[in-house]
Amino acid sequence: MKILVTGGLGYIGSHCCVALHQAGFQPVIFDNLSNSTVRVLDQLEAICGTRFAFIEGDVRDHLVLAHTFKQHQPAAVFHFAALKAVGESVAEPLRYYQHNLVGLLNLLQQMQQAACQQIIFSSSATVYGVPECLPLTEQHPLSATSPYGWTKLMAEQILQDQCRAQPELLAVALRYFNPAGAHSSGLIGEDPRGIPNNLMPYVAQTAVGRRPFVSVFGNDYPTPDGTGVRDYIHVMDLAAGHVAAFQHLCGQTGFEAFNLGTGKGDSVLQLIAAFSKAAAVEIPYQLRARRPGDVAASYADATKAKARFGWQARYTLVDMAADCWHWQTKYPHGLEPSHDD
Ligand code: NAD
Ligand code: WQD
Repeated sequence: MKILVTGGLGYIGSHCCVALHQAGFQPVIFDNLSNSTVRVLDQLEAICGTRFAFIEGDVRDHLVLAHTFKQHQPAAVFHFAALKAVGESVAEPLRYYQHNLVGLLNLLQQMQQAACQQIIFSSSATVYGVPECLPLTEQHPLSATSPYGWTKLMAEQILQDQCRAQPELLAVALRYFNPAGAHSSGLIGEDPRGIPNNLMPYVAQTAVGRRPFVSVFGNDYPTPDGTGVRDYIHVMDLAAGHVAAFQHLCGQTGFEAFNLGTGKGDSVLQLIAAFSKAAAVEIPYQLRARRPGDVAASYADATKAKARFGWQARYTLVDMAADCWHWQTKYPHGLEPSHDD
């Protein structure tokens, strides 16, 4: 069964392609390479022993999407393609709405025309805004604190509305907490361009000597050690969550949202300590002021995903650090060193 994987050469999409292949599906990758490289296809071939179909295209381009649906007739779409940098979305909101919402609208239109009736959508815990209570259940009120967050919230609304209008459609929004780690082969992983925004890739680049130290943003939060607490989830656990959701919900209809997290929060200092242990290197850090817009703590109640499709996270923070380190030491400057800064 063919699955169209938009953004399939990116961080989470590429790991999902491995999980899809292992589960017997045929990923068809659609990506505009704006935040990835075609070298990921070679890496996927090395892991899976088969070369996946690849279309270089943009989800904002309905002609190339229409052609892709006609050529491959996928049974479902896993939609990862989007822009994802929160700060950048504040500076360039129109670009974010274009990629993340116009892209989704095009995709849904093409799916309807091609009678493709199942979509798994990459949502984010950012749709919960500032947590009012923890752990975050799917019933927590939704809000957004950045244009990026609004694109995810609006995308979920669009999916709900389209499910009402197209009763045979299944739309599943998976709300990721903080993805981290890499495939155990070390052949694919998170390959950020420029200075990483996220904590684990920043720590990894510090461990490998590309950055002098980690800035710890705030140590005066109401958390056990004063630093921010997050629910880090292994990217292969996320990938397994997508496959489990699709396998169990396939054939059903309507919109539903699920958290994908471990249910456990770890602090910035705990992550640095876990990484230091996994890499067996000292990781220098300096305490800095809070980063504007950050919340003290965020972690999931992940019981709904377990109840509905039997999924729960398996990997620990040390596993994530070890796999990230394996990838980082194999490719210290990423797959395309020209992306390095
Ligand atoms: P990524 O940037 O590594 O992957 C996204 C891929 O989509 C890239 O390969 C990029 O080239 C491609 N792409 C971007 N715009 C496109 C367009 N208009 N048309 C076609 N391809 C396009 O990001 P990721 O971390 O793998 O994130 C995947 C999805 O998960 C995104 O929707 C993101 O918002 C969501 N998400 C990510 C995180 C995270 O922390 N990484 C957390 C929650 C949700
Ligand atoms: C984690 C913790 C920082 C970097 C972001 C998006 C969210 C989602 C996942 C897409 C926080 C601290 C960080 C550093 C630090 N993405 N930190 N030094 O902010 O929880 O979530 O990525 O949907 O929408 O907002 O992740 O990895 O940036 O930060 O001290 O150099 O690490 O303050 O406490 P965040 P993060």
